[in-house]
Amino acid sequence: MHVSPALSRIAPSGTTAMTDRAIELRESGIDVISLSVGEPDFATPPHVIEAAKAALDAGQTKYTAVGGTSQLKEAAALHFARDLGIAVPSSQVTVSAGGKQAIFHAMLATLREGDEVIVPSPWWVSYPEIVRFAGGKVVPLLTAAKDNFRFTAADLEAQIGPRTLWVLLNSPGNPTGAYYPEDMLRGIGDVLRRHPRVMVLSDDIYAPLNYTGRAHATLANLCPDLADRILTVSGVSKSHAMTGFRIGVAAGPQWLIKAMEKLQSHSSGNPCSISQAAAVAAFEGPQDFLEEWRERFRQRRDRVVAAINAIPGLSTPTPDGAFYCMIDAAPLMDRFGRDDGKLALHLLEHGVALVPASAFGGRDGFRISFAADDARLEEALARIEKALT
Ligand SMILES: Cc1ncc(COP(=O)(O)O)c(C=O)c1O
Repeated sequence: MHVSPALSRIAPSGTTAMTDRAIELRESGIDVISLSVGEPDFATPPHVIEAAKAALDAGQTKYTAVGGTSQLKEAAALHFARDLGIAVPSSQVTVSAGGKQAIFHAMLATLREGDEVIVPSPWWVSYPEIVRFAGGKVVPLLTAAKDNFRFTAADLEAQIGPRTLWVLLNSPGNPTGAYYPEDMLRGIGDVLRRHPRVMVLSDDIYAPLNYTGRAHATLANLCPDLADRILTVSGVSKSHAMTGFRIGVAAGPQWLIKAMEKLQSHSSGNPCSISQAAAVAAFEGPQDFLEEWRERFRQRRDRVVAAINAIPGLSTPTPDGAFYCMIDAAPLMDRFGRDDGKLALHLLEHGVALVPASAFGGRDGFRISFAADDARLEEALARIEKALT
């Protein structure tokens, strides 16, 4: 074993044992419904597929500029302005192989050993691992179900110290669906004004999936005076059901965009040329299907929240966005030795694959993704009820 110290700082995925068992069960002919995936079950829109085919036919199969084609940078700038209210020139936009890579490169390009990164928890699984790999120290900012998993400006202020370099903000959030409205973000902006060294990574990848009826709110739009220390990450993976295309976009200060592109020039090089052409179509093409998708997700969310809260021992707040529900099972945990990995395996034995809360820095519960077909979702909820009552 000759793995680097940086790699040994990373924890293996908390879901491996479950994934292995799910495969075993499926191979032995048992029907397992997966509510663990983080991607829409809808098909990629046809105009996006056509754009990918056209790019192939036109021979767009060679290297592009490292940080993305000028067409995609322009299209992404249009997306930032139209959908997030962030006016940026295309020179302050970069394109990467998924939103994940943009976050990875931003952390690697800026963190020094021991710099602190405030990560609200429960968190998206990759945030703490990326920070640790890049040499940063994760400072968890705990949030609770009773607050819809949101922290306040005062909570944030209490965590900021002399070594804080970044705050990671994800709205709507994975795994909780937490959504930060305008007033809360303005409060967070006030805190940041008192701490000029601190930067914010605003992960807005789920922005179109917001069920509050209110427009998406984001820090770079609300606090333009802070824009030179905000990196906003977005993409097409979740909004346009394009997870396999691997395209993410980020907008931020010129120096940071340049630093991320410098790193990308030696890591992956340019993102896939075909996928870039498809992403141009996604950003520039019709957006009206999003309304229908949002409505379907909202209906599923309401169904899941009602069904889960009707099962004794389970409870969840209503998530305001994304397609996840973080479910508390604390009253049932004695049955599982207070180990939510065991609870998740128990549910798996009853034919439902989901992710234990501990994989997200939470505890005593699990996350459901409701990006699943209505009938399968209904069947999964019935199985969960049967397994726990
Ligand atoms: C909060 C959050 N940010 C970023 C990503 C990365 O998305 P992509 O597939 O574009 O890399 C995900 C994907 O699960 C996510 O949940």
